[in-house]
Amino acid sequence: MELHNSHQQELIAEDQQGSVLSLDRDKEFNVNRKFYIESYGCQMNFSDSEIVAAILNQEGFGSTRNIEEADMIFINTCSIREKAEESVRKRLKDFRPLKKHKPELTIGVLGCMAERLKSKFLEEEQLVDIVAGPDAYRDLPNLLKKAEDGDKGINVFLSREETYADISPMRLDENGVTAFISIMRGCDNMCSFCVVPFTRGRERSRSSYTIVSEATDLFMRGYREVTLLGQNVDSYKWLNPETNEITNFAQLLEMVAKVNPLLRVRFSTSHPKDITDEVLNTMAQNPNICKYIHLPVQSGSSRILELMNRTYDREWYKNRIQAIRQIIPDCVVSSDIITGFCTETTADHQETLNMMEWANYSMSYMFYYSERPGTPAAKKLKDDVPLEIKKARLNEIIRLQNQISHRHNQSEIGKTFEVLIEGNSKRSTDMFKGRNSQNKMIVFQKKAHYKAGDYVMVKIESASSATLMGSIVN
Ligand code: SAH
Ligand code: SF4
Ligand code: F3S
Repeated sequence: MELHNSHQQELIAEDQQGSVLSLDRDKEFNVNRKFYIESYGCQMNFSDSEIVAAILNQEGFGSTRNIEEADMIFINTCSIREKAEESVRKRLKDFRPLKKHKPELTIGVLGCMAERLKSKFLEEEQLVDIVAGPDAYRDLPNLLKKAEDGDKGINVFLSREETYADISPMRLDENGVTAFISIMRGCDNMCSFCVVPFTRGRERSRSSYTIVSEATDLFMRGYREVTLLGQNVDSYKWLNPETNEITNFAQLLEMVAKVNPLLRVRFSTSHPKDITDEVLNTMAQNPNICKYIHLPVQSGSSRILELMNRTYDREWYKNRIQAIRQIIPDCVVSSDIITGFCTETTADHQETLNMMEWANYSMSYMFYYSERPGTPAAKKLKDDVPLEIKKARLNEIIRLQNQISHRHNQSEIGKTFEVLIEGNSKRSTDMFKGRNSQNKMIVFQKKAHYKAGDYVMVKIESASSATLMGSIVN
């Protein structure tokens, strides 16, 4: 908050006539200036863009989805794999003609790549005016002012406290039914392959009260599903400074579930080392907490998991899946997998394939290992699996996951699920799309009176590896 106050003072400047130009006058002027934001990477980044939009909106700037009419372009970037960074660099090149055409256009790089590359960005890319890391978004109005004055604006300070708890996100790309709520920031794990601890800083949890009030506000506005976001939601821990009481993730889940039985609650991502039986029991006891867990395994080999510093082994992971099956029998699990990590052998790879079969993932996000500068793996291990082998193993993993997903979906035919209608299906305005509690996308024919945000019972009639098709039943 302090930042805001000092900034307000800064903006009280004298105008040409010698009278005082107040912040409000500035805001009026800002109304005619529009910002455009494009996001890459994980859901946290998309959620951060909504915080950025709220901060800019508070300054009076308007948002636009049309890049051509923007006075400011922000690109919220991801560093997780080399390819993610490449696509951002490519996109920045597209902005060159826009800047040529409109020299007063401000271009800002936000997010993880801004944090990783810092001032290097300004040296590398002449067209960039602003570089702001994930904890520096409150400073954006100030950085914009600098850019306006012809300077470059950079702030890559990582905070131990910032959670943007008081900022009500401005919903971009909204369907009016589902929304993300950020519950924590940063990550204190040190998975050896991962750049996130370096780009997002230390883990910190947001006050449970602001999370519940954001969920309540969304519900009042017609939203029917919230997804609680964090890199490792199971280690959510908030200490109430007034009562000295701690809220853990299971308690937070319950608090959000109690907002209203008609509000669905999801969360992502869970870490196998931290997901507790208390969380699973809370899920089982609350019908509106969705029966779906994204529980990335990364590798099926205990030896590789140790090199990855995931702090669990194959047996531990299997034990967690067994606990899920026992406590929440209708729960579905999905995963992230990295293939071709340092020293991975054919036998390790087989263990990953075997784990995928055993865990019966409904779907997985699958990648081949991409070494990230500065990470523990880059410092200590040799990236020694040849690219062709990485690609071949990835193909094998994708092929297997497709088979498993197909089988998973085929087994749903004939069942009836409660589906939350999210809107029109991509292919046809005669069809609705929505998901069941288990996070499966279902497409079905519209029926009179039903609209987005309604719950309907849908009987599944056919399935592909990605989607289920069905009809509304009464
Ligand atoms: N916090 C989450 C993951 C966030 S990153 C968790 O711990 O599960 C999303 C996924 O990107 C990871 O699960 C991992 O599968 C993948 N990933 C991360 N770093 C990677 C790298 N260097 N190369 C390839 N994939 C990577
Ligand atoms: Fe990265 Fe591991 Fe943290 Fe996930 S838990 S963000 S993979 S360091
Ligand atoms: Fe990418 Fe940063 Fe998310 S590196 S995956 S945008 S936390």
